[in-house]
Amino acid sequence: MSDFYEVYLPREDTYLVESILKNRDLKGKKVLEVGCGSGYLSIFCAKHKAIVTAIDINNKAITYSKRQAEKEKVNIDFLQSNMFESLDPKEKFDLIFFNPPYLVSDNLDFLALDGGKEGREIIDKFLKGFDKHLEPNGFVLLLHTDYNDLNKTKEILSKKGFSFKILSQERLFFEELNILEIKRI
Ligand SMILES: C[S@@+](CC[C@H](N)C(=O)[O-])C[C@H]1O[C@@H](n2cnc3c(N)ncnc32)[C@H](O)[C@@H]1O
Repeated sequence: MSDFYEVYLPREDTYLVESILKNRDLKGKKVLEVGCGSGYLSIFCAKHKAIVTAIDINNKAITYSKRQAEKEKVNIDFLQSNMFESLDPKEKFDLIFFNPPYLVSDNLDFLALDGGKEGREIIDKFLKGFDKHLEPNGFVLLLHTDYNDLNKTKEILSKKGFSFKILSQERLFFEELNILEIKRI
């Protein structure tokens, strides 16, 4: 397997999330990045004085991003974790963000890309558990394509007492990337 598949290096979707983070006041905020990949976005937040925890299921991503953070001389709490499993169950954040794997796939071989049968397996796992780690006034940024069924996400969120608005859209070859801002209703 090539490095490309082992650690997800920054690309269009990463930069789209960054463009939203750029307009936020991150100073002193407790921030959790789920699926940190290369660590690019977590490092961005730490450079803007957020208190950052970064998790990824892929240990190679954790090792890679730790090294990047050291090079950039920023302090980030890195943790290998399958979604929220290894976090302290009581820990809460002002901002949680996730650029998930969402491609339709028969299995989850490529951790950075594969989203399972309808491309929603990892997104649904995230939606199931994020609220336990969100401060009452906190919010979530979630990258979501048009073909990953936005209505289903809306339904799941509304049952939990959350709603979203679309902050940014970018059309690539075969998909539209949306950044959802998710908040309590
Ligand atoms: C599309 S990449 C995004 C990487 C980085 N955040 C970025 O924007 O460049 C998705 C990341 O989610 C991670 N991931 C996949 N399934 C996960 C899970 N169940 N729990 C935590 N991280 C997961 C992958 O290993 C990968 O690093």
